[in-house]
Amino acid sequence: MKHIQQLILLFLGFFYVGTSFSQTTTIPVETANNALVLQADDKGDLKIIYFGKRLENAKEYSQVPQVYRQSVDYSDVLNSAYTSSGSRNLAEPAISVIHGDGNTSLDLRYVSHKQETIDDNVSQLAVTLQDPVYPFNVVLYYRTYKDEDVIEQWSVISHNEKKDVILQKFASANLHLKAEDYYLTQYHGDWAKEMQPEQSKLTHGIKVLDSKLGTRANLFQPSVFMISLNEPSTEEEGTVLYGAMEWSGNFRIDLELDPQDNLRVIAGMNNFASPYSLPSKEEFSTPKFLYLLSHKGKGEASRKMHSWAKNYKLLDGNGSRLTLLNNWEATYFDFDEGKLFELLEDTKELGVDLFLLDDGWFGNKYPRNNDDAGLGDWQANKKKLPNGVSSLVQEASENGVKFGIWIEPEMVNPESDLYNKHPDWVIKQPEREEHYFRNQLVLDLSNPKVQDFVFDVVDGLFTENPDLAYIKWDANAVIYNAYSSHLENQSHLYIEYVEGLYNVLRRIREKYPNVPLMLCSGGGGRVDYGALEYFTEFWPSDNTDPLERIFMQWEYSYFYPAISVANHVTEWGSQSLKFRTDVAMMGKLGFDIVVGELEDKDLEFVKNAVDNYDSIKDIIWHGGLYRLSDPKEKDVASLLYVNEAKSSGVVFNYLVNNRYDSGSKLPILLKGLDPAKQYRIREINLYPGTQSAINPDVIYSGDFLRKVGFNPEVDASRKSVVLLIEEII
Ligand code: DGJ
Repeated sequence: MKHIQQLILLFLGFFYVGTSFSQTTTIPVETANNALVLQADDKGDLKIIYFGKRLENAKEYSQVPQVYRQSVDYSDVLNSAYTSSGSRNLAEPAISVIHGDGNTSLDLRYVSHKQETIDDNVSQLAVTLQDPVYPFNVVLYYRTYKDEDVIEQWSVISHNEKKDVILQKFASANLHLKAEDYYLTQYHGDWAKEMQPEQSKLTHGIKVLDSKLGTRANLFQPSVFMISLNEPSTEEEGTVLYGAMEWSGNFRIDLELDPQDNLRVIAGMNNFASPYSLPSKEEFSTPKFLYLLSHKGKGEASRKMHSWAKNYKLLDGNGSRLTLLNNWEATYFDFDEGKLFELLEDTKELGVDLFLLDDGWFGNKYPRNNDDAGLGDWQANKKKLPNGVSSLVQEASENGVKFGIWIEPEMVNPESDLYNKHPDWVIKQPEREEHYFRNQLVLDLSNPKVQDFVFDVVDGLFTENPDLAYIKWDANAVIYNAYSSHLENQSHLYIEYVEGLYNVLRRIREKYPNVPLMLCSGGGGRVDYGALEYFTEFWPSDNTDPLERIFMQWEYSYFYPAISVANHVTEWGSQSLKFRTDVAMMGKLGFDIVVGELEDKDLEFVKNAVDNYDSIKDIIWHGGLYRLSDPKEKDVASLLYVNEAKSSGVVFNYLVNNRYDSGSKLPILLKGLDPAKQYRIREINLYPGTQSAINPDVIYSGDFLRKVGFNPEVDASRKSVVLLIEEII
């Protein structure tokens, strides 16, 4: 009986596609290589009928559904472009509401669409959907970046009902993929263990990636993920979808392998504890969900992601960055003006651009001599800094270096003037015991007065110190006991917090558009493209053990360009100073060491390394990245950065296995070079007194280096090898 029913439905389905062909509206969302094709059927249901390689003839997209023989979709909305709940839908919804009259049904139908060309590369599509029964609208936005194959998708929800509508779920995007199998790469972590990858084959049902932490939202899980279609992608091969929420708060990504074996991806802010009351005629805009489909593996996907980030998202993505000396691990909270003056001299001696003063410089009644007091009281500590921050900025300038400073303006220690004065500015349950994360609580950024306070912390520093050149913005605590004494509607807090943060960052950027800001959150607890619009770089982790960093930076490199990744040479790990420095060079180089305590040769090495870095940083920051040898699979990790003209490159190679006789036994294929060019390869960043095993006089064709490869001669006696590749003309 069931089979007969299915056959009838199947027949009706074909009939329906055939006869309704002329009444449908097909909307291809195209990039250089791909098309996401939306189709409104004769009832107005907006569906995704295709997401794959772009076709030569756009008219053929309408025929795509006819070549599939999958099982029946009883609801007929499994491939909805924005699945509503409470009507026919049987699967995970993208949107779920309680109307003003208490009714919970929603059914969104296509009304119209508008395509806008922003420039040669960027276009934007807006598709308006409306409920036939309730005056309730959703506009789906798709912004496409043609050359990068990137789509940013978000939705704007509004209504005209008499009473407020409660939004129970409000995704940014809803995708639908068809493949034999789906392999998910996701990330998990904790403090000092960021970006730990896990790959699994998705099974039927729903896999949820999410965060409910509020502020330091990525502590356990970032929103970045990959889905390989059919089989796991490699660097060079396979179809892979990269996805990420551009949102610095709670997120939720549902990956539902549905009864038809298709994958539904629903991504947005997390609706956990967040029903949102939307008044009539007001708009609720979701953050953007970013995605990119590549058919040439993960290498191409990340190069495209990097170009997109540098051209369109990351602040000053194509600009320059400051190398620096940071005092966090050199002094922790234990410093005074004299000590900092010495460090300023060290900064000059080292040859880096800037000195970054970390935590511990503020608080008087509650001095910040530890992490249990003072947070919130942003006045220079008179004992440590009797002449204030300005004397440090001045001294830096006398040493010919710039000066930057650490702040954590969203947070407060209960032991502080701020907490005593404004307990109502703090997120905490009025009747419950306080619970602390690193002895601190989070300020209520949903409150405009708190937003002003946070803005004033930054503005005050720049007003008093116009030469201040850099800010490290930290955020160590998660939100416990979520409650705002400002908000009427408590379930708005998680969302309004992040909106409040973005308000402050926008105001800072309006007044200080260019100053570099580092995004830090107790390590990499807040790394996302929502925040990176306002920041020039991020701190990936407090774990700077170079061996750990090779793995961690490798994973970050799938999504974030090297210019955005701040890497410091510290005392973490047991590797040599050379090894630590070489690893930190694969991004934005900094140091957090006591320069004055370095042996002569070590000092000579780091000074040379800073010079070398200055000569190759443009290749690392602005070039393309080719991951050549995966530390998870091989004894040697190897990564190539090559400039756009393919005339210069740098290859970083590291031994990641300490077992007997491990090393680079086979040559490494230098993908990314130009086969038609001739190159010379020489080793740089040698430790004083050591000889290179590489003969710099041999000339290789790009063809040879790509097909046969090059051996960096990595082994236990040469654990870290940096090679400079230069074209011979
Ligand atoms: C956490 C950051 O990740 C560290 O780099 C450092 O700035 C400390 N906070 C300071 O408290």
